[in-house]
Amino acid sequence: MQSNIGSKDSAGSFLKRDREVVTPLGDGGHNTYVKVSAPGTVANLVCGFDILGLCLNEPHDIMEVQLLDEKKIIIHSADGYPLPLDPAQNTAGAPLIEMINELGGNIGFEVTIHKKIKPGSGIGSSAASAAGAVVAANYLLGNVFSKTDLVRFAMFGEKVASGVKHADNIAPCIYGGITLIRSIHPLDIVVIPVPELYVTVVHPQIEVRTKDARQILRKEVLLKDAIKQWGNIAGLVAGFMKNDLDLVGRSLEDVIIEPVRSILIPGFDEVKRRCKEAGALGGGISGSGPSLFMLSKKEATAIQVENVMKEIYERIGLAYHSYVTTINMEGVKVLTD
Ligand code: HSE
Repeated sequence: MQSNIGSKDSAGSFLKRDREVVTPLGDGGHNTYVKVSAPGTVANLVCGFDILGLCLNEPHDIMEVQLLDEKKIIIHSADGYPLPLDPAQNTAGAPLIEMINELGGNIGFEVTIHKKIKPGSGIGSSAASAAGAVVAANYLLGNVFSKTDLVRFAMFGEKVASGVKHADNIAPCIYGGITLIRSIHPLDIVVIPVPELYVTVVHPQIEVRTKDARQILRKEVLLKDAIKQWGNIAGLVAGFMKNDLDLVGRSLEDVIIEPVRSILIPGFDEVKRRCKEAGALGGGISGSGPSLFMLSKKEATAIQVENVMKEIYERIGLAYHSYVTTINMEGVKVLTD
């Protein structure tokens, strides 16, 4: 099949075509296997539904990817999670199908997913699989694709998972840090400078499917609510860029999505109120939930916030996982050659 992006030169290396840089295969084409860590992410950052996201240092999936010399995708779930193994229905497989179709030629990938970020947790499980797969595949192909291309492919995984393409988990997972997705048609991703912050995440052990959490949303918003939301999004981005953490805290307010989705999460109002009383800058639902996140200036505060979360879920009698972590500046990381 004729490739419209990469082509092989006489030495067998994939070369970029119609692009600013020509990049030969990583080490001349000898890598056929790679292991990557694919981190969790917090999408929306409260007020920025579908347009803001932050990359976490914990938790993260591990993915192993083997380059094949036939047009085929094989998916394995290493931990017994019931992930769909049909590549077209798998959040790692669907992006790789798009990548292979765009490249052409007889290439394929065998992917083994060690899932540590539970599906339906709200901390970017589907995005981690999609982003991990495309970064690993790109590495094996000699980094022929740009990060924007990788986000474009990985969004096919989000479409499989939630029925809709969105990049607010994918982009921070691939770029690291905090990203703004100004537009997905065409893709316009802005990396936002990140102040030093601690992130506390609690994952009550119930599953909220993103598809369901999107379907319950109202399709129209009042102008007065939209104005408040615009103010908060602008305030949040300005706060990050100016390292004005009090402005960040004031801007972590959502008058459109949270009032609808928070009813799906036991203990939501109490967690939010008491974590702020414990010193958190603010926070709310992570992605489509049920995980909740809080940002803090200091590690000691983030630990105190975690204690509040633990106390609430122990009292409610709902199992949970919690993390105190920091912002991951690297995104998906290659672990071995
Ligand atoms: N922006 C998406 C949503 C993120 O809130 O539905 C899903 O993780």
